[in-house]
Amino acid sequence: MGTGYVGLVTGTCLAETGNNVVCVDINAQKVEMMKNGKLPIYEPGLEQLFHRNIAQGRLTFTTDLSEGIAEAKIIFLALPTPPGGDGAADLSYVLGAAGDIAKLLTDYKVIVTKSTVPVGTADKVTAVMQQHAASGVEYAVVSNPEFLREGVAVEDFMKPDRVVVGTTDERARKLMSELYAPYVRQGNPIVFMDERSSELTKYAANSFLATKISFMNEIANLCELVGADVDMVRRGIGADDRIGRRFLFAGIGYGGSCFPKDVQALAKSSEENQYDFKILNSVMAVNDIQKKVLVQKVKQYYKGDLAGKHFALWGLAFKPETDDIREAPALSIIEDLLAAGATISAFDPEGINNVKAILGDKIAYAKDQYAALQDADALLIVTEWSVFRTPDFDRVDQLLKAKVIFDGRNLYDLDKMIDCGYYYNSIGRKIVE
Ligand SMILES: NC(=O)c1ccc[n+]([C@@H]2O[C@H](COP(=O)([O-])OP(=O)(O)OC[C@H]3O[C@@H](n4cnc5c(N)ncnc54)[C@H](O)[C@@H]3O)[C@@H](O)[C@H]2O)c1
Repeated sequence: MGTGYVGLVTGTCLAETGNNVVCVDINAQKVEMMKNGKLPIYEPGLEQLFHRNIAQGRLTFTTDLSEGIAEAKIIFLALPTPPGGDGAADLSYVLGAAGDIAKLLTDYKVIVTKSTVPVGTADKVTAVMQQHAASGVEYAVVSNPEFLREGVAVEDFMKPDRVVVGTTDERARKLMSELYAPYVRQGNPIVFMDERSSELTKYAANSFLATKISFMNEIANLCELVGADVDMVRRGIGADDRIGRRFLFAGIGYGGSCFPKDVQALAKSSEENQYDFKILNSVMAVNDIQKKVLVQKVKQYYKGDLAGKHFALWGLAFKPETDDIREAPALSIIEDLLAAGATISAFDPEGINNVKAILGDKIAYAKDQYAALQDADALLIVTEWSVFRTPDFDRVDQLLKAKVIFDGRNLYDLDKMIDCGYYYNSIGRKIVE
């Protein structure tokens, strides 16, 4: 149930190992699109698997839940869990679906929560199921959080670092082992645990990664004050096995549909359990500040006056290799620049249509990265798409009104920028003037 970034990847990848999968979604337009062989999202590698499994009859789509679950042994809930007004995860989709499924159950099925949900949700799902299921019908409620990363979701699903399964039901445990066996052939573990630990594992993972990002962003801010270079510091600490090389890049704050809401939800559930999770509150506060850093640099450069200035923006998606713009730093940067009286021309390889749907003609959209530069006072780099890493600087010079770059992703070498004669202001490194 749910054919978003998680549901559609899960369904397609489960079909790829020979399972029959029916994807159910309430969005009729989306289902129609998929029935016509069109992918509703951009995710590298998904298209080939999607077409292959549709062609071989293992992957089908419907809006009809009863049709969807009739033959199912296992039902995955890959439904939204957006933040409610108070920051806690909104469980209405998950609990609503549990009720709908319960009413249709006739034989033993495993209901698996893949959505990211707070500790105790398996109990809540079970309670809803008990309320609506016919007496005597058997089922198991399992927690199986998803750790895939948008942009490499297919690879992550096909070869996960680990699979976490929370269940105390022996039959469900066997079924889940069998289902995931083809994905862990290299020996990566399926970690079985109780439901509550499994639910918390997902929040702990995302909150830890968000903490790493906020920590490095604070190091970057300090680097700027003391004249150090965050990229050097990153290399220096990343070589230590205990720290690791990944997820140490300073930037303009984390975004996307997961980190912001999951950190907030964990802080909220800690609060509900009378626990003051101090680190998480700082992680969120640091991120809010970091999202403003690039525009602050721009404002400082133009002495606070952005009225009438025109900026080129490279990158809209919250990270490369996705069209997902939920909580993307680009959106907050655009809002701040527009509020200060500037105009914007933006380019992103995949994210433009999604931004257009929200912002319409408030900004201009360029057909490629160079078209965005025409008559711009400066270039702002917001997402680290590979195509932005080695641009044709001669062309950039010709199109920009001034050789000014604000880089939120530290894409370029400082010496190169000195050689090219740019004003170049990045994150946690010396300003090249
Ligand atoms: N996006 C990620 O990278 C990621 C990674 C790990 C975990 N998660 C978690 O997975 C869950 C889903 O995230 P997503 O990004 O795939 O969401 P999404 O918004 O992309 O997709 C959700 C889908 O569910 C559908 N839906 C809503 N109600 C429904 C119903 N009653 N029946 C059938 N379909 C219904 C929607 O139409 C939509 O297509 C969330 O809890 C999220 O936190 C997401």
